[in-house]
Amino acid sequence: MTLLAVRGLTKRYGGRVACTDVSFEVYPGEVLGIVGESGSGKSTVLQCIYLETMADNGSITLDGEELTTVDAMRRRWLRSFRMGMVHQDAARGLDLGVSAGGNIAERLLAADWRHAGRIRARGTELLSRVEVAADRVDDLASAYSGGMRQRLQLAKAMANEPPLLLLDEPTSSLDVHVQAAILDLVKELHAQTGVAMVVVSHDLGVIRLLAQRTLVMYRGRVVESGITEQVLEDPQDAYTQLLVASSL
Ligand SMILES: Nc1ncnc2c1ncn2[C@@H]1O[C@H](COP(=O)(O)OP(=O)(O)OP(=O)(O)O)[C@@H](O)[C@H]1O
Ligand SMILES: [Mg+2]
Repeated sequence: MTLLAVRGLTKRYGGRVACTDVSFEVYPGEVLGIVGESGSGKSTVLQCIYLETMADNGSITLDGEELTTVDAMRRRWLRSFRMGMVHQDAARGLDLGVSAGGNIAERLLAADWRHAGRIRARGTELLSRVEVAADRVDDLASAYSGGMRQRLQLAKAMANEPPLLLLDEPTSSLDVHVQAAILDLVKELHAQTGVAMVVVSHDLGVIRLLAQRTLVMYRGRVVESGITEQVLEDPQDAYTQLLVASSL
C-alpha cells in the first residue's frame, strides 16, 4: 500500500520553474531522501505536499485522498493529523514569540485537547522524547538554540502522531556535533514510531544515514532514483556522478 503518491508535480514562480514533472511514492514506515544542489526544487516539493503552496500541475495523494483540491479547513486538518513538517527555516515552523509548550499546544488544541494540565503534560512528554529538558517548556521558542528549535519542530510535528513527517534540511543550519545528535534523534524516532519520512538534504551524508530510497533532483527535475546505496555507490546520471564525486 502506498502512503503518499506524487504524480507529475509542477510548480512555477512567475516564469521560473521551481520543480517540474516530479513523481514518486512513499510507503508506510519508509524514509525517502531527496538530494540536490541549492535551488533544485527540493523545498518546493515538500511545500506542495504540506499544502503551503499550491502546485500548478500534478496530483498528490495521501492515503488515497487527493490533496491538491481540498479546502482550507481540510488542509488544516491534514497538517495537524496526517503530516508534520520540520522546516528548513525554524521561524517558519515555529511561533518564536510563543513558549515551547505553547507551540506544541497549538497542535493539541487542533486535536480538541481542552484540559490545560493534560496539554502541559503531553507537551513535556513530547519535549522529553526529543531530549529537551522539561524545565524548558515555558521558555519562548526564540530563547531556544538552533538545535533545540529543530528538536521543538520535531516535537510539534509529532504531536498528533501523523503517519508522515516531512523534514526539510533538518540539520543544515547547525554545527557539526549538533547535526550528529539531531540525526541520531531522527533515526531513533523512526525506529520507535515507524513514521514514514521524506528527508530533504543537500548533504549526501544525511541521506546515506537516514534514507532507504533516494531521489536526486537537478534543476527542478528528478534525474535519478533508487535504493540509496545503489544511487550513491553506482550513480547512473551524470549530475549524480558529479554530486557523489564532489562529496568524497
Ligand atoms: N516563494 C518563491 N518565490 C519565487 N521563487 C521561488 C520561491 N520559492 C522557491 N523559488 C525558486 O524556485 C527554485 C527552487 O527553490 P527551492 O527552494 O525549492 O530549492 P531547494 O532545492 O530547496 O534549494 P536550497 O537547497 O537552497 O534550500 C529556485 O529557483 C527558487 O528561487
Ligand atoms: Mg530548500
